[in-house]
Amino acid sequence: MITIKNETQIEKMRKAGALLHEVLEALRREIEPGVTTLHLDQLAEKLIRDAGGIPSSKGYNGFPSSICASVDDQVVHGFPNKNKLRKGQLLSVDCTCILDGWQSDSAFSVVVGGGNPQAQQLVEVTEKCFWLGAQQAVAGNRLGDIGHAVQAYAESFGYGVIRDLCGHGIGTEMHEDPNVPNYGIAGRGVRLQAGMTITIEPMIAMGTWKVYQEDDGWTIVTRDGRPCSHYEHTLLITDGEPELLSWPGMKVSQVISPDGKMISGQGVLK
Ligand code: MF3
Ligand code: CO
Ligand code: CO
Repeated sequence: MITIKNETQIEKMRKAGALLHEVLEALRREIEPGVTTLHLDQLAEKLIRDAGGIPSSKGYNGFPSSICASVDDQVVHGFPNKNKLRKGQLLSVDCTCILDGWQSDSAFSVVVGGGNPQAQQLVEVTEKCFWLGAQQAVAGNRLGDIGHAVQAYAESFGYGVIRDLCGHGIGTEMHEDPNVPNYGIAGRGVRLQAGMTITIEPMIAMGTWKVYQEDDGWTIVTRDGRPCSHYEHTLLITDGEPELLSWPGMKVSQVISPDGKMISGQGVLK
Protein backbone atom coordinates (compact mmCIF):
# COMPACT_ATOMS: atom_id res chain seq x y z
CA MET A 1 0.00 0.00 0.00
CA ILE A 2 1.38 3.40 -0.99
CA THR A 3 0.81 6.05 1.67
CA ILE A 4 0.66 9.82 1.20
CA LYS A 5 2.34 11.67 4.06
CA ASN A 6 0.80 14.75 5.68
CA GLU A 7 2.69 17.90 6.65
CA THR A 8 3.26 16.79 10.27
CA GLN A 9 4.71 13.48 9.10
CA ILE A 10 6.83 15.16 6.43
CA GLU A 11 8.25 17.54 9.01
CA LYS A 12 9.40 14.52 11.05
CA MET A 13 10.95 12.95 7.96
CA ARG A 14 12.79 16.25 7.33
CA LYS A 15 14.28 16.05 10.82
CA ALA A 16 15.32 12.41 10.38
CA GLY A 17 16.82 13.30 7.00
CA ALA A 18 18.73 16.27 8.40
CA LEU A 19 20.25 14.07 11.08
CA LEU A 20 21.16 11.37 8.57
CA HIS A 21 22.78 13.92 6.27
CA GLU A 22 24.97 15.19 9.10
CA VAL A 23 25.94 11.65 10.05
CA LEU A 24 26.90 10.69 6.50
CA GLU A 25 28.93 13.87 6.03
CA ALA A 26 30.77 13.12 9.28
CA LEU A 27 31.51 9.59 8.05
CA ARG A 28 32.69 10.88 4.68
CA ARG A 29 35.23 13.12 6.42
CA GLU A 30 36.69 10.11 8.27
CA ILE A 31 37.33 7.99 5.19
CA GLU A 32 40.99 7.57 4.30
CA PRO A 33 43.40 4.67 3.89
CA GLY A 34 43.94 2.85 7.21
CA VAL A 35 40.49 3.59 8.64
CA THR A 36 38.19 0.61 9.30
CA THR A 37 34.53 0.34 8.36
CA LEU A 38 33.91 -0.77 11.96
CA HIS A 39 35.10 2.67 13.05
CA LEU A 40 32.63 4.28 10.64
CA ASP A 41 29.86 2.04 11.98
CA GLN A 42 30.58 2.93 15.61
CA LEU A 43 30.72 6.64 14.79
CA ALA A 44 27.39 6.46 12.93
CA GLU A 45 25.70 4.69 15.84
CA LYS A 46 27.04 7.21 18.37
CA LEU A 47 26.04 10.26 16.33
CA ILE A 48 22.53 8.90 15.73
CA ARG A 49 21.94 7.88 19.36
CA ASP A 50 23.42 11.15 20.73
CA ALA A 51 20.81 13.01 18.63
CA GLY A 52 18.00 10.87 20.09
CA GLY A 53 17.65 8.67 17.01
CA ILE A 54 17.82 4.93 16.40
CA PRO A 55 20.14 3.33 13.84
CA SER A 56 17.39 1.35 12.13
CA SER A 57 19.61 -1.00 10.11
CA LYS A 58 20.98 -2.51 13.35
CA GLY A 59 18.85 -5.55 14.09
CA TYR A 60 16.78 -5.14 10.91
CA ASN A 61 16.01 -8.75 9.95
CA GLY A 62 19.10 -9.59 11.99
CA PHE A 63 21.50 -7.19 10.22
CA PRO A 64 24.35 -6.70 12.73
CA SER A 65 25.40 -3.07 12.19
CA SER A 66 24.28 0.55 11.93
CA ILE A 67 25.74 1.05 8.45
CA CYS A 68 26.18 -1.15 5.42
CA ALA A 69 29.79 -0.86 4.23
CA SER A 70 30.36 -2.43 0.82
CA VAL A 71 33.82 -2.49 -0.76
CA ASP A 72 34.70 -2.95 -4.46
CA ASP A 73 32.66 -5.90 -5.85
CA GLN A 74 30.32 -5.80 -2.84
CA VAL A 75 27.18 -4.09 -4.13
CA VAL A 76 25.26 -3.45 -0.90
CA HIS A 77 24.62 -4.88 2.60
CA GLY A 78 28.30 -5.45 3.43
CA PHE A 79 29.15 -5.87 7.12
CA PRO A 80 31.46 -3.31 8.69
CA ASN A 81 34.70 -5.01 9.82
CA LYS A 82 38.18 -4.45 11.22
CA ASN A 83 40.01 -4.47 7.88
CA LYS A 84 41.91 -1.30 7.11
CA LEU A 85 40.63 0.49 4.01
CA ARG A 86 43.23 0.75 1.25
CA LYS A 87 43.87 3.54 -1.23
CA GLY A 88 41.90 3.06 -4.45
CA GLN A 89 39.15 0.86 -2.99
CA LEU A 90 35.58 1.79 -3.88
CA LEU A 91 33.63 2.08 -0.61
CA SER A 92 29.84 2.49 -0.39
CA VAL A 93 28.33 3.56 2.91
CA ASP A 94 24.57 3.19 3.40
CA CYS A 95 22.80 4.26 6.58
CA THR A 96 19.24 4.46 7.86
CA CYS A 97 17.96 6.13 11.01
CA ILE A 98 14.68 6.71 12.81
CA LEU A 99 13.94 9.98 14.59
CA ASP A 100 10.62 10.41 16.39
CA GLY A 101 9.25 7.34 14.62
CA TRP A 102 10.16 8.33 11.06
CA GLN A 103 12.86 6.86 8.85
CA SER A 104 15.48 8.27 6.53
CA ASP A 105 17.80 6.33 4.19
CA SER A 106 20.85 7.57 2.29
CA ALA A 107 24.06 6.20 0.81
CA PHE A 108 27.19 7.45 -0.95
CA SER A 109 30.28 5.95 -2.54
CA VAL A 110 33.88 7.17 -2.62
CA VAL A 111 37.24 6.02 -3.87
CA VAL A 112 39.33 5.70 -0.71
CA GLY A 113 42.28 8.09 -0.95
CA GLY A 114 41.53 8.71 -4.65
CA GLY A 115 43.80 7.52 -7.44
CA ASN A 116 41.55 5.03 -9.24
CA PRO A 117 40.12 6.93 -12.24
CA GLN A 118 37.98 4.04 -13.48
CA ALA A 119 36.31 3.62 -10.10
CA GLN A 120 36.03 7.41 -9.75
CA GLN A 121 34.14 7.60 -13.04
CA LEU A 122 31.80 4.84 -11.87
CA VAL A 123 31.11 6.78 -8.65
CA GLU A 124 30.40 9.98 -10.58
CA VAL A 125 28.18 8.32 -13.16
CA THR A 126 26.19 6.66 -10.35
CA GLU A 127 25.65 10.05 -8.70
CA LYS A 128 24.56 11.54 -12.00
CA CYS A 129 22.16 8.59 -12.47
CA PHE A 130 20.62 9.57 -9.15
CA TRP A 131 20.15 13.22 -10.20
CA LEU A 132 18.71 12.26 -13.56
CA GLY A 133 16.26 9.94 -11.81
CA ALA A 134 15.42 12.59 -9.21
CA GLN A 135 14.71 15.07 -12.01
CA GLN A 136 11.92 12.72 -13.16
CA ALA A 137 10.51 12.33 -9.63
CA VAL A 138 7.68 14.81 -10.08
CA ALA A 139 3.95 14.32 -9.38
CA GLY A 140 2.24 13.12 -12.57
CA ASN A 141 5.30 11.26 -13.87
CA ARG A 142 5.56 7.49 -13.48
CA LEU A 143 8.09 5.21 -11.80
CA GLY A 144 9.25 4.07 -15.24
CA ASP A 145 10.37 7.63 -15.98
CA ILE A 146 12.78 7.46 -13.04
CA GLY A 147 14.07 3.98 -13.89
CA HIS A 148 14.47 4.78 -17.56
CA ALA A 149 16.50 7.93 -16.84
CA VAL A 150 18.86 6.02 -14.53
CA GLN A 151 19.23 3.06 -16.85
CA ALA A 152 19.77 5.02 -20.07
CA TYR A 153 22.60 7.07 -18.58
CA ALA A 154 24.35 4.13 -16.87
CA GLU A 155 24.14 1.92 -19.94
CA SER A 156 25.52 4.68 -22.18
CA PHE A 157 28.82 4.01 -20.37
CA GLY A 158 28.47 0.24 -20.80
CA TYR A 159 27.78 -0.14 -17.08
CA GLY A 160 25.36 -2.66 -15.59
CA VAL A 161 22.24 -1.60 -13.67
CA ILE A 162 21.61 -3.90 -10.70
CA ARG A 163 18.17 -5.47 -11.11
CA ASP A 164 17.84 -7.47 -7.90
CA LEU A 165 17.57 -4.45 -5.60
CA CYS A 166 15.53 -1.26 -5.93
CA GLY A 167 14.66 2.02 -4.29
CA HIS A 168 11.47 1.97 -2.24
CA GLY A 169 8.80 3.89 -0.43
CA ILE A 170 9.79 4.95 3.08
CA GLY A 171 8.01 6.34 6.14
CA THR A 172 7.53 4.73 9.54
CA GLU A 173 8.95 1.60 7.85
CA MET A 174 12.33 1.51 6.15
CA HIS A 175 10.86 -0.30 3.16
CA GLU A 176 7.35 0.60 2.02
CA ASP A 177 5.57 0.38 -1.31
CA PRO A 178 6.28 1.06 -4.10
CA ASN A 179 9.47 -0.55 -5.40
CA VAL A 180 11.52 2.03 -7.30
CA PRO A 181 13.59 0.15 -9.91
CA ASN A 182 16.67 1.64 -11.52
CA TYR A 183 15.52 0.40 -14.92
CA GLY A 184 12.26 0.71 -16.77
CA ILE A 185 10.21 2.10 -19.58
CA ALA A 186 9.37 5.80 -19.66
CA GLY A 187 5.66 6.43 -19.20
CA ARG A 188 5.02 3.08 -17.49
CA GLY A 189 4.42 2.08 -13.90
CA VAL A 190 2.88 3.67 -10.83
CA ARG A 191 2.03 7.35 -11.15
CA LEU A 192 3.81 9.62 -8.66
CA GLN A 193 1.69 11.80 -6.35
CA ALA A 194 2.58 14.75 -4.13
CA GLY A 195 3.15 13.50 -0.58
CA MET A 196 4.74 10.18 -1.56
CA THR A 197 8.14 9.62 0.05
CA ILE A 198 10.56 7.33 -1.76
CA THR A 199 14.22 6.56 -2.10
CA ILE A 200 16.08 6.58 -5.39
CA GLU A 201 19.20 4.48 -5.10
CA PRO A 202 21.08 3.54 -8.24
CA MET A 203 23.45 0.58 -7.82
CA ILE A 204 25.68 0.68 -10.90
CA ALA A 205 28.28 -1.95 -11.77
CA MET A 206 31.36 -1.52 -13.93
CA GLY A 207 30.59 -4.84 -15.60
CA THR A 208 27.66 -7.23 -15.33
CA TRP A 209 24.51 -6.43 -13.35
CA LYS A 210 24.33 -10.04 -12.22
CA VAL A 211 24.91 -10.54 -8.52
CA TYR A 212 24.88 -13.23 -5.85
CA GLN A 213 24.49 -13.26 -2.08
CA GLU A 214 27.38 -14.34 0.15
CA ASP A 215 26.96 -17.16 2.68
CA ASP A 216 26.59 -14.54 5.43
CA GLY A 217 23.00 -14.15 4.16
CA TRP A 218 23.45 -10.43 3.45
CA THR A 219 26.37 -9.24 1.37
CA ILE A 220 25.46 -8.82 -2.30
CA VAL A 221 28.44 -9.19 -4.68
CA THR A 222 28.83 -8.84 -8.46
CA ARG A 223 29.22 -12.15 -10.26
CA ASP A 224 32.13 -10.92 -12.36
CA GLY A 225 34.00 -9.50 -9.36
CA ARG A 226 34.10 -6.01 -10.85
CA PRO A 227 33.28 -2.99 -8.65
CA CYS A 228 29.87 -1.46 -8.02
CA SER A 229 28.83 1.97 -6.78
CA HIS A 230 25.71 3.04 -4.83
CA TYR A 231 24.14 6.44 -4.18
CA GLU A 232 20.85 7.12 -2.39
CA HIS A 233 18.61 9.81 -0.97
CA THR A 234 15.14 9.95 0.56
CA LEU A 235 12.84 12.26 -1.44
CA LEU A 236 9.42 13.86 -1.07
CA ILE A 237 7.37 13.99 -4.27
CA THR A 238 5.81 17.40 -4.89
CA ASP A 239 4.09 19.07 -7.83
CA GLY A 240 7.42 20.69 -8.65
CA GLU A 241 10.91 19.37 -8.08
CA PRO A 242 11.29 16.76 -5.34
CA GLU A 243 12.44 17.78 -1.88
CA LEU A 244 15.62 15.98 -0.86
CA LEU A 245 14.70 14.97 2.66
CA SER A 246 18.16 13.51 3.33
CA TRP A 247 19.97 16.61 2.03
CA PRO A 248 18.35 19.70 3.50
CA GLY A 249 18.49 22.75 1.27
CA MET A 250 19.80 20.91 -1.77
CA LYS A 251 17.74 21.10 -4.95
CA VAL A 252 17.91 18.93 -8.04
CA SER A 253 17.97 22.12 -10.13
CA GLN A 254 21.16 23.21 -8.35
CA VAL A 255 22.92 20.08 -9.54
CA ILE A 256 21.52 19.36 -12.96
CA SER A 257 20.03 21.58 -15.67
CA PRO A 258 16.70 20.82 -17.39
CA ASP A 259 18.57 19.38 -20.39
CA GLY A 260 20.39 16.91 -18.15
CA LYS A 261 23.81 18.61 -17.88
CA MET A 262 25.55 18.63 -14.53
CA ILE A 263 25.97 22.19 -13.31
CA SER A 264 29.63 22.97 -12.87
CA GLY A 265 30.82 22.94 -9.29
CA GLN A 266 28.28 20.41 -8.08
CA GLY A 267 28.75 17.18 -9.91
CA VAL A 268 32.07 16.36 -11.39
CA LEU A 269 30.82 15.20 -14.78
CA LYS A 270 29.81 17.91 -17.24
N1 MF3 B 1 19.67 1.03 3.57
C1 MF3 B 1 19.22 -0.11 2.82
C2 MF3 B 1 18.32 0.38 1.71
O1 MF3 B 1 18.72 1.27 1.02
C3 MF3 B 1 18.66 -1.22 3.59
C4 MF3 B 1 19.50 -1.63 4.72
S1 MF3 B 1 19.34 -3.27 4.99
C5 MF3 B 1 19.83 -3.39 6.56
O2 MF3 B 1 17.22 -0.04 1.48
F1 MF3 B 1 19.70 -4.59 6.90
F2 MF3 B 1 21.06 -2.95 6.67
F3 MF3 B 1 19.06 -2.64 7.31
CO1 CO C 1 19.97 2.64 2.03
CO1 CO D 1 17.05 2.32 0.52
